[in-house]
Amino acid sequence: MSRKKASVNGNFKDIVNTVKFLTERKRFIDSAAPVLPTRTDDFGVNKVARSLHPKEQKLVIDRIEEHSDIAKSYYLRSEAAPLACFKAGQYLTFRLEIGSAVVTRSYSIASSPASALNGEYQITVKRIANGFVSDHILDNWAVGDKVTAYAPEGNLTYNPLRDAETIVAIAGGSGITPFISLARAIAQGDENCSLTLLYGCRTPEEILFRSELDSLACESEKIKVVYVLSHSDEEGYEKGFIGADIIKKYAPEGDYSIFACGPEGLYKHLGSELPKLGKEKKFIRFEVFSSGKKADEQKDFSITVIDRGNESVIKASSSETVLCAFERAGIEVPARCHTGECGFCRSKLVSGKVFIPEGEDKRRIADMQFNFIHPCCCYPESDLVVRIN
Ligand code: FES
Repeated sequence: MSRKKASVNGNFKDIVNTVKFLTERKRFIDSAAPVLPTRTDDFGVNKVARSLHPKEQKLVIDRIEEHSDIAKSYYLRSEAAPLACFKAGQYLTFRLEIGSAVVTRSYSIASSPASALNGEYQITVKRIANGFVSDHILDNWAVGDKVTAYAPEGNLTYNPLRDAETIVAIAGGSGITPFISLARAIAQGDENCSLTLLYGCRTPEEILFRSELDSLACESEKIKVVYVLSHSDEEGYEKGFIGADIIKKYAPEGDYSIFACGPEGLYKHLGSELPKLGKEKKFIRFEVFSSGKKADEQKDFSITVIDRGNESVIKASSSETVLCAFERAGIEVPARCHTGECGFCRSKLVSGKVFIPEGEDKRRIADMQFNFIHPCCCYPESDLVVRIN
């Protein structure tokens, strides 16, 4: 089928799905009881909304599972309220105090959405070179510890109105976590898509969830798993880096969406490989959790932080984001995605110059004009004055 024809079919499918959704919604609204609540507190939907979107969740580490010596899974339960529900592919943002620093970091939820209904989240943390927060978690979190997380968020989720019925998921290292969640959800009948998982690691020993992925692929014809090794040449594995050739070899005929999650190197490689597939942008989505570091010559600067009229001066480095400088100084700025996407950390750059890597500037045009920045993806290039909150 030509690309043009495939796209027309895709648009037609979108229209049919939208009409179905609107009809179903109208039927639901028409059949609802015509009773208005007398007090906001009495309105059940508000209670459901509060449990689905809590401001923050107090969690307890219930158990810890080691994945060789490179990663650990943490199973978290709620201290009191029910856990907020999530869709496979979403992440939790944790608020941590490390020494005098106050930091937020996001980790994809590895468990299936059904697990939240049973009161449990699973996250998996892998050790990375000089990983400020990941190393702290791996070395310090213990069973019984209490941790704070915000409600699940993120868009690396299957949406039948937007996505093709097959997801080609490209995972690198611990970037497997949103896709093990999706595979579990498909196997449990909670997601209606098919999954072709291309999972890249350096060696077979670094593959996380190996036995579970193999069983899920055996049990469900909707799940296919291909392992790709970059530093090892062994039978039964693809060799090299995941690029257009490997995607074409395993992707289904016809439409498919591409989801990717992994380290920075994976995205750089995909940046030059994916255009070879000629896919529309709407069929490609990345989840990027920045470590806040830039491998570059390091220069020291200062940032004058204005917080509700109070001024303080902190140290900053050209190799770390402005948000990292805030965190190290113990200055709390709301932050979730660390990718420039959510806008939670939006601040005003009063003076100075910052560097924003290509593709990471997701500000609105008005914000660019009036010099607002997302500190999570800006690196100082001079002394700065920044107004937060
Ligand atoms: S934390 Fe989301 S834009 Fe900065």
